[in-house]
Amino acid sequence: MLESLFKRRILDNAFYRKSRIVLAFDEYGDSDAVLNRLHQFCEQLGEHLAGIKIGYPTILSTGLPQLKKPLSKFSGENVFIADVKMADISFTNSLIARLLYETGFDAVIAHGFIGYEGGLEGVFKEAEKLKRGVVIVVSMSHVGSVEFIDPCVEKLVQTALKHGADGAVAPATRIRVVKRVREIAGSRLLIFTPGVGAQGAPYGAGLLAGADFEIIGRSITGSQNPLDTVLEVKREHDRVLAGGAC
Ligand code: XMP
Repeated sequence: MLESLFKRRILDNAFYRKSRIVLAFDEYGDSDAVLNRLHQFCEQLGEHLAGIKIGYPTILSTGLPQLKKPLSKFSGENVFIADVKMADISFTNSLIARLLYETGFDAVIAHGFIGYEGGLEGVFKEAEKLKRGVVIVVSMSHVGSVEFIDPCVEKLVQTALKHGADGAVAPATRIRVVKRVREIAGSRLLIFTPGVGAQGAPYGAGLLAGADFEIIGRSITGSQNPLDTVLEVKREHDRVLAGGAC
């Protein structure tokens, strides 16, 4: 399968910017204030990021149409991922995916546990039509993930591989899961790891376990000086990667 545009663009950013950071932007509240902050982060931090993941708190605060302008303004240099963790039936998923792609998102995140037939199918077909990316959640960073999701990690990764997903989300908070995902997927999936910083795993823990990217939110967005924090994370990532562990 050909490498998707999303995959190529985020890997290019990683290479040229020497960045493994995907900023989790979950700001919420007054729509204009949220949009201003997004604008500010894109301008100030964009050149140090591999991608920007925008989640429900932001989408619900601003509304989707209002995100079109900033996404279009910064789409040349930034890669945008919609974190809506889709988990509906195929028809509804395809509508959600289309709306997000048409807004300017390069990739969407969907839950793997819904299965392909009549579920993920709609997301993959829409992505294929519009040449965008799909990232599948195969494990989550919170403790409760071990109840239902983690026992199925291997099957979830196989599903992601079988249907040509670009990447998988796995938790930096449980690095043996990340290692297992890498063992199964080899280089066929990008691995995105949330859970570093605010959720307790140290910066670099995901990369050390074999991930391509660390998804980092509050440690950066809540910092007094987000740029300093991004540069600090990058230094830690450089240190970890220089160790040859990844
Ligand atoms: P923080 O502030 O904790 O932000 O650094 C983490 C971001 O990642 C999201 N998140 C997850 N997304 N699978 C996902 O697909 C996960 O296991 C997971 N854990 C956290 C979270 O919503 C926030 O945007």
